[in-house]
Amino acid sequence: MTQMPIRIAPSILSCDFSQLGAEVTAIDKAGADYIHIDVMDGHFVPNLTFGAPVIKSVRATTSKIFDVHLMIAPVDPLLGSFADAGADIITIHAEAGSHLHRSLQTIKALGKKAGVALNPATPVDVITHVMDLVDLILIMTVNPGFGGQNFIPLFDKIKMARALADKTGRMIDIEVDGGVTRDNAKEIIAAGANVLVAGTSVFKDGAAHYAANIHVLRGGA
Ligand code: DX5
Ligand code: ZN
Repeated sequence: MTQMPIRIAPSILSCDFSQLGAEVTAIDKAGADYIHIDVMDGHFVPNLTFGAPVIKSVRATTSKIFDVHLMIAPVDPLLGSFADAGADIITIHAEAGSHLHRSLQTIKALGKKAGVALNPATPVDVITHVMDLVDLILIMTVNPGFGGQNFIPLFDKIKMARALADKTGRMIDIEVDGGVTRDNAKEIIAAGANVLVAGTSVFKDGAAHYAANIHVLRGGA
């Protein structure tokens, strides 16, 4: 298995939106590697969050990687606006459109890293033929739409994604999103993930606890 650094990506979905800029600064200072930004459209997923203008408004608060998870369909018309807003990684859902290859080409042409997210029911095989365009595979371990749901134990799927990524010989992130806690983080990493998204388990107990919450997910005591 390719040894890649473990990265923690707090999902701002669980932060205090009335203090968005301060919350992003707080998780940056607390040791977040990526800032995970969940964009939902109330159509592809049954919830609405925010769009590119909000992302742009917090871009100046941190130099950390903006890991933008787009749960929107259609996605192609908006890719440029998320690139302009300051996304570093743009992740789209394999289920969100008929032309995954074209969407990934668009992200790469915008000069951004391209991720593909797979819902729990979607097999890893659907990305076999687009791997040359993929920088990150996001394995959803909840049905997307809400924070605070229970983890679905898709460890075999995480292993398959890691194997597919390693076959390319490139450093491809395997990111796991949904229900990640201090109790399952170790097993998720052992299965081959190197990026852990965490909303509830980072933002619980207030800002004074963010650093400890991140540390423990990374494998600290
Ligand atoms: C769910 C989102 C997740 C979510 C994770 O649709 O993609 O990023 O915020 O939240 P927790 O860690 O609370 O499951
Ligand atoms: Zn997400």
